[in-house]
Amino acid sequence: MAKQIDEYFNPWVKGISMYISSHIELAWKNPDLHRMMSNENPNPPSPKVMEAIMKFAEMSNRYPDQGLVVRSKIAEINGLEGPENVMLGNGSSEVFDNIFRCFLGTGEEVIQHTPCFGIYKLRCNILGGKLVSVPMVYKDNQLLYDPGSILESITEKTKIIVVANPNNPTGNFMDREHFVTIAETGVPFIVDEAYIEYSGLGKSQVDLVKKYKNVLVTRTLSKAYGLAGMRFGYVLGHQDVISQIAAALLPWNVSTISMWAGYAALEDTEGLRDRVEFNNREVAYIEGALSDIPGLVIFHSNANYILFDAGPTGKRGSDILEFALERGIIFRGETEKYGSDGWFRITIGTEEENRMAVSLLREYFGMG
Ligand SMILES: Cc1ncc(COP(=O)(O)O)c(C=O)c1O
Repeated sequence: MAKQIDEYFNPWVKGISMYISSHIELAWKNPDLHRMMSNENPNPPSPKVMEAIMKFAEMSNRYPDQGLVVRSKIAEINGLEGPENVMLGNGSSEVFDNIFRCFLGTGEEVIQHTPCFGIYKLRCNILGGKLVSVPMVYKDNQLLYDPGSILESITEKTKIIVVANPNNPTGNFMDREHFVTIAETGVPFIVDEAYIEYSGLGKSQVDLVKKYKNVLVTRTLSKAYGLAGMRFGYVLGHQDVISQIAAALLPWNVSTISMWAGYAALEDTEGLRDRVEFNNREVAYIEGALSDIPGLVIFHSNANYILFDAGPTGKRGSDILEFALERGIIFRGETEKYGSDGWFRITIGTEEENRMAVSLLREYFGMG
């Protein structure tokens, strides 16, 4: 008898289901809801970016090239030699996938610091890898990086270490010296700088790629540049490493429109500055406006979201999400951790949305 289709699948992919963000689905189905859950930029693309989108939409009948112009621009912005130091991806999520596929085999390990962005785990799982989660340390109302434990978790099977800087959802940075120590191990080390522009490239670890071939710095235009729907990300690294990883790229992975929209956004330095200033002002506003709620732990953020632990107030994160949704705002839930079920995260919205969020939270905590 013929074998069943099930028997043909790689055993490690069986049972894994498609990743669907329920909160994003909810938002698209209900455009009236306020999206304060996915670390998107609340401001639409600038006129300069729109112009590029329209111009290259008219050439959608043509295949894209390898993106030398935008890759050169990215290299220049980051003080690297040239386009050979840059690989483009359909969002940085695809970049992680490409890197993982090049290094990770079944049963091999990826070390991540948790809580963190969920995609590393998904890409690891689909390759049959083992995810080693190193918890951050919750101390003095802060979630701290624990580089010592990351180093201690390295085994013969470790193929990748990934650290987001600043981290999602905690919003904080790891100290420079620890990047160097981890880089020194020689293990492929991804520094995910999805939110770096909110603090400026001065906080980037990109110079490490000049010294350490095993260091790869990933970025995205989904956040400060405000192009999440365009799907444009990239990785910076030594040219030998980039060319090897680029060999695993899906041809034409980044569309012509995304490439040129990305290029226009990178050129529009004023547009970036305005978005960053707006964001950082609003982060300060929200953190300040909620700081007198007794017991509410606010994690100071260097990005476009803020994490909260309402555990000490006796309230549950899931109830806060429900309360916000009843008022038309989607916040982001967080799993129970460190003995608290009071976690939730909000993404910076428009000026109006941020004031609505503050007012509903103050009401919820009896401070209205
Ligand atoms: C830390 C981190 N890295 C990467 C990304 C992915 O961005 P994209 O695939 O849109 O480039 C996100 C998105 O939320 C993130 O939080």
